[in-house]
Amino acid sequence: MDNFASPQPVLEAIGLTKTFRVRPDRIGAKPRYVHAVSNVSLRLSPGATLGIVGESGCGKSTAARLIMQLLDRDEGAILIDGEETANGRAALRAYRRDVQMVFQDSSASLNPRLTIEASIMFAPMVHGVSRDEARVRAHELLGKVGLDPARFAGRYPHELSGGQRQRVNIARALALRPRVVVLDEAVSALDKSVEAQVLNLLQDLRAEYGLSYIFISHDLAVIRHISDEVLVMYLGQVIERGPVADIFDAPFHPYTRALLASMPSHDPAARTLSPPITGDPPSPIDLPPGCRFAPRCPQAADVCRARMPELLLKDTHAAACHLNDPRSGHPVFEEKAA
Ligand SMILES: Nc1ncnc2c1ncn2[C@@H]1O[C@H](COP(=O)(O)OP(=O)(O)O)[C@@H](O)[C@H]1O
Ligand code: SF4
Ligand SMILES: [Mg+2]
Repeated sequence: MDNFASPQPVLEAIGLTKTFRVRPDRIGAKPRYVHAVSNVSLRLSPGATLGIVGESGCGKSTAARLIMQLLDRDEGAILIDGEETANGRAALRAYRRDVQMVFQDSSASLNPRLTIEASIMFAPMVHGVSRDEARVRAHELLGKVGLDPARFAGRYPHELSGGQRQRVNIARALALRPRVVVLDEAVSALDKSVEAQVLNLLQDLRAEYGLSYIFISHDLAVIRHISDEVLVMYLGQVIERGPVADIFDAPFHPYTRALLASMPSHDPAARTLSPPITGDPPSPIDLPPGCRFAPRCPQAADVCRARMPELLLKDTHAAACHLNDPRSGHPVFEEKAA
């Protein structure tokens, strides 16, 4: 049995798939298809942080937008407390109360003409909370994110630093008292020292409000610091997932290994000399059959190019690679048998 099954996940996504059709660059050419997210499933345990990591363009933000239902999925389902979310405006409104999002760009996501207080009060008021109650909530949250309401409530976004604006965005996401927060590169634009402060704040808030996070980042060090479970994505697919210690201390998938090998170490003596991932930069357009990592994988064999490996679970750790399955027909197993 899959250990991700217990306890009952607060949020679950099954088989999320999104393909974008892009217009051909010249008349008469065939349309092209971007396989941004292919069959992505995840389970978020109550109070946990699920990290999603992968190179730029691997589909993290598209997955986040599908989970937020900001984007229609081609296939798949989203469940809250084991119940599939219904269609329609009322269901989406209820979903928005439970699941909120923080984006990377702190200046673009705040209305420049609204005071900080008004920005945080906006969503609760839309959801029927009285103005007075919304103001009380906004001031409480400003205090929680480390911005003294007496000093900050009346300020405008341009009067704040990037780190302060991101604290406001976090307060705003919490104003509807959600249970799940999806953070898409939420600290990626911040200076390293500010980033550490915001990460610590997020961990405090998670404990205090009983939140669960889906934390998306291309930065392995940040993912390692904050996550309980990790999903590694490559070209729209989950290629490995497991508890954070398994992923970082015993990575299985050749892509995860390559990613970790290219991770800068803080200890100069431990810095690896292994080359970064080689091969063409990935593009999710017009994908070949078989393993999507095969063009860059040092262990690619014919079976890899012919058949797509399934995400195979062993104990708590799953990897989609023919090397993970002795029956796959990968030559590495035939050599061992001989
Ligand atoms: N609206 C869109 N139309 C066409 N292609 C898109 C659209 N949104 C994203 N993509 C493509 O989907 C892929 C995944 O993008 P994205 O989810 O933003 O990745 P990430 O967040 O991991 O960098 C990229 O190739 C991107 O160019
Ligand atoms: S399935 Fe083959 S090509 Fe894909 S990661 Fe595993 S060994 Fe490499
Ligand atoms: Mg992104």
